[in-house]
Amino acid sequence: MKRIGVLTSGGDAPGMNAAIRAVVRTGLGKGWEVMGIRNGYAGLYNNTVSSLGARDVSSIIQQGGTMLGSSRCPEFKTEAGRRQALHNLEEHAIEALVVIGGNGSQSGAQALSQMGFPVVGVASTIDNDLYGSEITIGVDTALDVALEAIDRLKVTASSHHRAFIVEVMGRDCGYLALMTGIAGGAEYIVIPEFETDAEDVVNAIRRAYERGKAHALIVVAEGAKYNARGLEKYFSKHHEKMGFDLRTTTLGHVQRGGAPGAFDRLLATRLGAAATEYIAQGKFGVLAGLNKNQITPTPLAEVVANKKPLDLDLLRLSEVLNL
Ligand code: ADP
Ligand code: F6P
Repeated sequence: MKRIGVLTSGGDAPGMNAAIRAVVRTGLGKGWEVMGIRNGYAGLYNNTVSSLGARDVSSIIQQGGTMLGSSRCPEFKTEAGRRQALHNLEEHAIEALVVIGGNGSQSGAQALSQMGFPVVGVASTIDNDLYGSEITIGVDTALDVALEAIDRLKVTASSHHRAFIVEVMGRDCGYLALMTGIAGGAEYIVIPEFETDAEDVVNAIRRAYERGKAHALIVVAEGAKYNARGLEKYFSKHHEKMGFDLRTTTLGHVQRGGAPGAFDRLLATRLGAAATEYIAQGKFGVLAGLNKNQITPTPLAEVVANKKPLDLDLLRLSEVLNL
């Protein structure tokens, strides 16, 4: 092995930079050259590739986002697009590739792997919906960002005796909403994995009002049927039953932009280094993830074929605790 490539793809996540740094420096330490591919699979397709030295990744461990850039690249979903990417990899004499990203990005990695190219994935998405890693890069920081916002919203909510709908990210997965809701002390949590009756939400908020609570918090995932827009629509006809006046805040991309905390820096560093070691060992077509506190390789075929389960008992825990 003489030269490897690294890219970040899909939604950016706090800690991606720490993972890039780990790949670059572990690779350089083995005497390899490390090529940075810009803007995810778009850079492979458009041939935007340049060499990365140890100083190029100085002082990025503490920065959010990704210094390589990221993108959604529809061309890469086609076989012709991937053939173009393979051609460009060959032109640069890149012998193996590290893909840092979430579900979609690892599907792309698996597709490339099936075409015979040596690929290793690094589990990175704030959604935490990737099979093969109990927790992914960026989740911990995104939760902290959401909780900081919620703590502030609770202060103003209490002053005005209001209920707040807070929408967090999660296109298909309720992990962020569930954990934010529990750690933020929500009165109600709405996630795509569990069917919610909007009347139930109104009744729960009413009960909180009658128990003398100063405020009520409803945390919703963006991908749920009753997300902020869905609930607002329903509440516009029924909200007088709740007791509280209502406001809505959508956190959106704020959660993705934070500087990585200690957990994400360490996780990203360990996963990036492990992915590079897997390449050295000739272990390809796998995802580097964290399982039972160990860094483990999971075949990409398994990663893309499975859905990570969400512990719905935690929904019940939140109900018990919001007395
Ligand atoms: P994330 O990795 O954060 O889940 P996306 O789902 O947007 O983000 O995927 C990122 C990119 O991965 C897509 O824009 C596309 O280029 C590539 N990709 C996604 N799914 C596939 C697939 N089934 N086959 C090939 N490439 C894919
Ligand atoms: O990173 C995943 C995610 O955060 C989803 O929860 C969300 O739907 C999506 O990214 C939105 O990202 P973008 O606006 O960058 O397409």
